[in-house]
Amino acid sequence: MFRRGKDEDGMTEPEVYFESLFPEDRELARIEESIRERGMPEISVEPAYGRLLTLLAAATGAKAALEIGALGGYSGVCLARGLRAGGTLTSLELKPEYAELARANLAAAGFADKVEMIVGNAADSLEKLEADGRKFDFFFIDADKENYPAYLEWAIRLAEPGAVIAADNTLLRGRTLNPDKQGPAVRAMREFNRRIAQDERLIGAHLPAFDGLALAMVK
Ligand SMILES: C[S@@+](CC[C@H](N)C(=O)[O-])C[C@H]1O[C@@H](n2cnc3c(N)ncnc32)[C@H](O)[C@@H]1O
Repeated sequence: MFRRGKDEDGMTEPEVYFESLFPEDRELARIEESIRERGMPEISVEPAYGRLLTLLAAATGAKAALEIGALGGYSGVCLARGLRAGGTLTSLELKPEYAELARANLAAAGFADKVEMIVGNAADSLEKLEADGRKFDFFFIDADKENYPAYLEWAIRLAEPGAVIAADNTLLRGRTLNPDKQGPAVRAMREFNRRIAQDERLIGAHLPAFDGLALAMVK
């Protein structure tokens, strides 16, 4: 029998076990180091979910991916790895210094020509993308949590039929489940999670490992 407790990194025993099976990913370790060196928040997507992003992008033959929240480019590299030949990643990031590091890390990983980094508030960037008639077949939502429901609507509006949507941190380190927590991010996440489960335009699924990951396909 395994314990369901968490280790000092906040991982459960099954999470630690499966993680231990994979060889070290030097490229992604280098990106994590670059984030640490600059004193930026160490909140890149979990390695297991990064692998899942690569797998899903590859399995669906993603050609135009849109990421909301770049940080240092960790998930960007995971997404770019899964794109089909000639595919592109558009990444939205609020902070210029983070966007610069993400751009540099994606270039170092060999994806300079596949990436379009758009700096600014994602809501403005999304409006511009729609005005430009852009469409995407893969989305990764991983920015400010209060806006997850709005980002989901944007993803559906900008989606090609059959597009995949992934979104990280749906458990908010347990706050989503805690009825005493009623702040704007928590309430927004509960609404987002409900829509993934119930919106008739989507086929949705929730993965409860790590900090929670939502997946959906736009019908
Ligand atoms: C969790 S981090 C992203 C991690 C990244 N997806 C990864 O796994 O490598 C969230 C990012 O969203 C950015 N962000 C926060 N609010 C934003 C907004 N309104 N528009 C665009 N980006 C935003 C933050 O600056 C931060 O870099």
